[in-house]
Amino acid sequence: MPDDWTTGAGHTHEQWLPVCSLPRLTSAGIVAVRVAGVDLALVADGGLVSACERACPHEQADLACGHIVNGRLACPRHDASFSLVDGAISDGWPSRPLRLYPVRVERGEVFINAACLRSGREA
Ligand code: FES
Repeated sequence: MPDDWTTGAGHTHEQWLPVCSLPRLTSAGIVAVRVAGVDLALVADGGLVSACERACPHEQADLACGHIVNGRLACPRHDASFSLVDGAISDGWPSRPLRLYPVRVERGEVFINAACLRSGREA
C-alpha cells in the first residue's frame, strides 16, 4: 500500500492530528470521525484519500452512510454526488459544493489539519 497518499498539503500553521489508520479506512471505504469538534467523513477511493464535511450540503444527510461511485461520494438520501477532488456537486443540484479538508497519510495513519477545521479553511 502506498505511504504517500496526500492531498491538500502545504498549508502553514499546520496542526496535523491522527484520526484513523489507513488499513481501517481502505477496508471500510468511508469512515466517520470527529476532529476538533467537527464531524467529517474520510473517504478512500483508489489511491486518493479525502476528508469532507459529514453532512450533505443539500439536506444534511449523513455522507458517512453514502457510497463511492467513479471517484465521487454519493449521498444516501437523494443520490447527488460530489467530486472527491474538488467537492463539485453533480449536475442539476442547487446546493453548494462539498467542503473538502486537507488530509495527509504517513506511516499508515491518516492525519487531518485541525487548524484548517478551526479556521474553516478547505483543501
Ligand atoms: S440530502 Fe444529500 S442529496 Fe439530498
